[in-house]
Amino acid sequence: MILFLTSLNAQQTLTVKVNEPKAEIQPTMWGVFFEDINLGADGGIYAELVKNRSFEFFKPLMGWTVHQKQFNEGAVLVVNRKEENTANPRFIRVTATNAAKGDLGLTNEGFRGMGIKKDVRYDFSVMYRHPKAGIKLHVELVDSTGKNLGGTTVTPTETGGDWHKTKASFTANATEPKAKMNIWFEGNGVIDLDMISLFPGDTWKNRPGGMRADMVQLLADMKPGFIRFPGGCIVEGYDLSQRYRWKNTVGPLEDRQLIINRWNFEFTHRPTPDYFQTFGLGFFEYFQLAEDIGAEPLPILNCGMACQFNSAEVVPVGELDPYVKDALDLIEFANGDVNTKWGKVRADMGHPSPFNLKMIGVGNENWGPQYIERLKVFAKAVKAKYPNIKLVNSSGTDPNGDRFDYLNSELRKMHADIIDEHYYRRPEWFFQNARRYDNYERKSSKVFAGEYAAQSDKTVSVNNKNNWLTALSEAAFMTGLERNADVVSMASYAPLFAHAEGWQWTPDLIWVDNLRSYGTTDYYVQKLYSLNKGTTEIPITMNNDVVAGQDSLYASACIDKKTNEVIIKVVNASPKEQVNTMTLDGAKKLALQGTLTVLKGNLDDMNSFDDPQHVSPKESTIGVKGNNISLTAAPYSFNVIRVKMM
Ligand code: AHR
Repeated sequence: MILFLTSLNAQQTLTVKVNEPKAEIQPTMWGVFFEDINLGADGGIYAELVKNRSFEFFKPLMGWTVHQKQFNEGAVLVVNRKEENTANPRFIRVTATNAAKGDLGLTNEGFRGMGIKKDVRYDFSVMYRHPKAGIKLHVELVDSTGKNLGGTTVTPTETGGDWHKTKASFTANATEPKAKMNIWFEGNGVIDLDMISLFPGDTWKNRPGGMRADMVQLLADMKPGFIRFPGGCIVEGYDLSQRYRWKNTVGPLEDRQLIINRWNFEFTHRPTPDYFQTFGLGFFEYFQLAEDIGAEPLPILNCGMACQFNSAEVVPVGELDPYVKDALDLIEFANGDVNTKWGKVRADMGHPSPFNLKMIGVGNENWGPQYIERLKVFAKAVKAKYPNIKLVNSSGTDPNGDRFDYLNSELRKMHADIIDEHYYRRPEWFFQNARRYDNYERKSSKVFAGEYAAQSDKTVSVNNKNNWLTALSEAAFMTGLERNADVVSMASYAPLFAHAEGWQWTPDLIWVDNLRSYGTTDYYVQKLYSLNKGTTEIPITMNNDVVAGQDSLYASACIDKKTNEVIIKVVNASPKEQVNTMTLDGAKKLALQGTLTVLKGNLDDMNSFDDPQHVSPKESTIGVKGNNISLTAAPYSFNVIRVKMM
């Protein structure tokens, strides 16, 4: 346990050397880590409301209920055309005989229900072929009592053996977090249906088939320097057959072959049998999201190894070619001219200009000599063709121990560009490790703190909470990241999203349900760092030492050359108010006042759907006298001061 101060400290002076620039802070410094875990993509940010829209789940009708007024064997058949279409083999065939509305139908339950908003437009679409024309589709949203929330009627007109797409929109007449969608068939005939879809019209940037605007907005508000995707362990897969293959996630939606999500069955204590990856949110959409929110894209690719906690399969080194080719082709997809094979795929999807990819990750939490051996093959091929692409490499699952030491030393021998470190640890660890990077090699590989989160209980415990203690400990630790900006070039909290009714892993940065979303205490720490990134680290000391736990204080400082401001971050991890003086040495003239943004709370305080801003930043002004600022830091507080240099 951390021993917090219980008696009042003497007033201290924290000296900031404004004219002694240390490291440049990379624009990528504070970013976000996205993984399709906790219903992060399907059922989360990907705004599709229909679960199992293409009937490809293991149980083809999972999420669907068939209604028949009169017994009619075979009226709804699941048909498999695997020989003809391996990516999307199943569809349903509906045969209606003199059906009136209400006689024969399907209901889709959505992902834990469908979140429906009053006055918002809903876009229904379906792929169909009509072997025997004569069927109308009545589409309606209903609440749990069966009350109609809006709907439309679709009359497919095309006949014959080809597939067609039809669409219709309607406006919802009420808000309901757990709606369902009914489709009633009317008439006489036979119709084949696939890709049955319903999207809200109010997606991010109003893109049809796009993302939940509230969730993207929370990311955009952070102004993250990068976005890592698509994980996480889903990159690796339980076995190699379930690894993430980016090529299966681009192009027409109906050709994106669904696979099971490894979080479906990973934790027996949190089974999620309806968790699959439809890849409606695929690599094109990730790149587009990165561009939208001004973040550098950081795709992570499978390195020829499945998750070492699961099957631990590896591909023989002599058979790595397709994996390496995936990496080279991805760079072409992101950056290639429209006349290249993969650049054309990007252009055909609506983005002829390049995405300007600068880095890729090879492997997620992979370890051992088997990783190094495979990584070397990737590094050689990528650097030969794209010498300017930086490679992010794995240092395994933990920030210390034999596994870490081995990888860290091998990677540094290889002159790795960026080493990805992960730490899921108790808050005490974060407080105690604020000096972690002070003695790292300065001129060698850069560090990417790629996944970290303070665990109020322990890793993968269902009891972990996003409380103010976890966030405060991360804020304290992050002063050490900023203070070592010459070593640490990127950092991201993990995981990012969790659905309140569909999570497997806690804690998480942002919690959502079908209609709402909120940033946790940890979110606001991340956001404050990112919005107050600065461009150049400068020294801040107390009694000639870095401020990393003395009197339960933690501090870092930087300059923002773009705005000509000094930015000081101070964490007071004690239960007492602390009044200290900040002396800004070397500043010619400072503004008479600056801004002070404070996050504070009791250690067990948490944000929630009902009180989303319980712990959130409060801004005020702070006086500047000559070169001195007196900061009254509240108990358990994170304080950010910005002062203009005149
Ligand atoms: O963030 C959750 C998981 O933690 C990631 O998928 C994995 O990389 C790590 O073990």
